Amino acid sequence: MTNEVYSPGLEGVIAGETAISTITGGLSYRGYSIEDLAAHATFEEVAYLILYGDLPKRGELDAFNKRLGAAATVAPQVIDALRLIPPKASFMDVMRSGASFLAHFDPDAGDNSHEANLRKAERLLAQMPTVLAARHRLRSGQQPVAPDAKRSLSGNLLWMLWNEPPTDRAERAMDVSLILYAEHEYNASTFTARVIASTMSDLHSAVTGAIGALKGPLHGGANEAVMDVLAEVGSADKAEKWIRDALAAKRRIMGFGHRVYKHGDPRATYLKTLCAELAVETGHQDMERMADVIESIVVGEKKLPPNLDWPSARLYHYLKLPVDLYTPLFVVSRVVGWSAHVIEQSDNNRLIRPRARYTGPEAKKFVAVEKR
Ligand code: ACO
Repeated sequence: MTNEVYSPGLEGVIAGETAISTITGGLSYRGYSIEDLAAHATFEEVAYLILYGDLPKRGELDAFNKRLGAAATVAPQVIDALRLIPPKASFMDVMRSGASFLAHFDPDAGDNSHEANLRKAERLLAQMPTVLAARHRLRSGQQPVAPDAKRSLSGNLLWMLWNEPPTDRAERAMDVSLILYAEHEYNASTFTARVIASTMSDLHSAVTGAIGALKGPLHGGANEAVMDVLAEVGSADKAEKWIRDALAAKRRIMGFGHRVYKHGDPRATYLKTLCAELAVETGHQDMERMADVIESIVVGEKKLPPNLDWPSARLYHYLKLPVDLYTPLFVVSRVVGWSAHVIEQSDNNRLIRPRARYTGPEAKKFVAVEKR
């Protein structure tokens, strides 16, 4: 092979082009900074922006919300299937099966045109919250709550989980977290989705594969691992000793470090403030202090800034959500980014098929089985 370039983990490699988001000069979706979007937009506006390329006008947003509301009810067979999955199954496995199962009931399954992909993306966006909430209630011995088309996606998600209306603060906190999780360039799960789309497979297959990639603790699974860390530390007064011991033992501290953001994840910076406000309102100041101690020592000693999963785990904890819902919530949001990338890949496709550097043995002569 000529011009052979090899970078372990594809670090620093430009593996394709995208017009959906960039992390250069801060994170922006389709040209809008995430700080601006998180401060002023709803998750639905952001989803529309990512999928369709620009912010919706009033009529477009109303129609989009209407379509999402109408699509949120899933086929009864999907709920039946959720009942059949053993109660102890990992929630991310349920989300993966859910995305895959929804394909069988999608009227556009088999149609990979641009328009059909947009319709499928909207339906997955509307339906994954229903799958998440229904599964959570079923495994808790409760009946699923029907989606309420009058609510926002975040409000409806919390409504379907709790069977009671969320406070404005809770709904907004969920909305902001979904905005920040929605899209992130060529991360591992998005790249997975693009590889699948590049074979001219279909959107549901790409999203199903992406969910598998997101599950790992080095990627989306980190937000759950962060909560395990905070639970292990216990209280603010134990934080300094815990983190110094953990660093001395060369433990990987979940929620810190990033392949690309070496000087800080702008999403984490933004969410930290919201998290601190919610902590005061819900009486979790001790956990905020604990997190501050850990953060200042990891940043000071290792020069590793926190990533989005560090504050988002606390945010979900303050919303009283069970830990194993954290990464599934990431799925609910990132469906938008994955779908946009599948559409972008499919619209201008070239099969993604890199080469490997061979490290195996030199050529050997075949020896018949009796003579080996
Ligand atoms: N805790 C302790 N040390 C760390 C951490 C961490 N969280 N992250 C990186 N390091 C250290 C490594 O041990 C390594 O040190 P060494 O050179 O002395 O061996 C050095 O920093 C480089 O680490 P790599 O793993 O090679 O860096 P990479 O670019 O692959 O890391 C990653 C990116 C995987 C995210 C890493 O920082 C990590 O494991 N973080 C914890 C998991 C996590 O929070 N993931 C969420 C990612 S963001 C998201 O999905 C929303």
